[in-house]
Amino acid sequence: MTPIRLLFVSNSDSKSAWKRRLEALDPSIEVRLWPDPGSLDGIEAALVWKPPAGLLATLPRLRLVLSLGMGVDHVFADPALPKGVPVVRLVDPDLVNRMSEYCALAVLRYHRNADAYDAFQRARQWKALPNEPAGASRGVGILGLGEIGRDLAAKLAPFGFRLAGWSRTPKLVPGVESYHGAEGFKPFLARSEIAVCLLPLTPETEGILNAAAFAALPKGAIVVNAARGGHVVDADLLAALDSGHVAAAQLDVFRQEPLPPEHPFWAHPKVRITPHNAGLTNPETAAAQIVENLRRLRAGERLLNVVDPARGY
Ligand code: NAP
Ligand code: GLV
Repeated sequence: MTPIRLLFVSNSDSKSAWKRRLEALDPSIEVRLWPDPGSLDGIEAALVWKPPAGLLATLPRLRLVLSLGMGVDHVFADPALPKGVPVVRLVDPDLVNRMSEYCALAVLRYHRNADAYDAFQRARQWKALPNEPAGASRGVGILGLGEIGRDLAAKLAPFGFRLAGWSRTPKLVPGVESYHGAEGFKPFLARSEIAVCLLPLTPETEGILNAAAFAALPKGAIVVNAARGGHVVDADLLAALDSGHVAAAQLDVFRQEPLPPEHPFWAHPKVRITPHNAGLTNPETAAAQIVENLRRLRAGERLLNVVDPARGY
């Protein structure tokens, strides 16, 4: 196989693990690690997470951009992203499963009032909350019925929740009420006692979890965001939490990461925070499809998981 030079661009601690794994899977791949890649001559592909703006435009022989994650907003955020160079994303079953674990845990925690029982235990109170609803009476709404949203729906279905999904185009997913487009948004929210955001971040979805969306949720709803911080208007979420209309929020992603120490989410009693680790990319499971896409690039074959730049996901 013709050798190929791949630029790896990320602040990840597992850079060396990525290089080892990729080069072991295909010795014709030479991985150059940014920010000390040596010469950039002949770089034909870049595997990136939040590449510095303008970097990719300095690679004259670049033929493929590969996202180190399932999301690609971090690639399209570069205003100088070379036009016409295909962008592919990861679709890794291991990562999808990890995302579903995270969201299912949040749904079940809130469904079973885990925060209240934690507080009762700390107060040595033997107390049961009245009328805890059964799964079948709980409306769970999934924003985004893509790879992760559909997997989450399949994993939540056996509990009997009343599941709904909202997407751009209509979907036929067994056991999931499908809503789509702008006209479907508010009816979808109105039946979502627990709303889980798994949308890609695009110009259409930026700030979609705003005051109007929170107001459309049933009173006492729970918001789970494992997608991107840019989906949430922070001030609107804080206002909805403070008014009690939204009862709690589980957030994995933030507009600024790491979340700055002074951000009000940190100390808010109704907010649970994790450090954007709902689904971390694992080189052990994800490297094979990167290698396969590099093989296809060289063989002139159709690439896997190509992103539509017009849609932004
Ligand atoms: P995906 O397969 O591309 O699916 C996206 C879904 O969102 C599709 O159902 C799509 O509708 C829908 N959608 C897109 N734009 C929309 C709009 N304007 N209105 C309504 N629905 C819209 O995405 P995925 O692989 O499931 O991943 C989703 C996101 O999860 C990623 O983009 C990333 O941001 C995030 N993520 C986070 C982590 C983490 O660690 N926190 C890890 C992995 C991924 P159609 O089906 O009709 O096109
Ligand atoms: C992580 O956030 C991803 O997009 O894979």
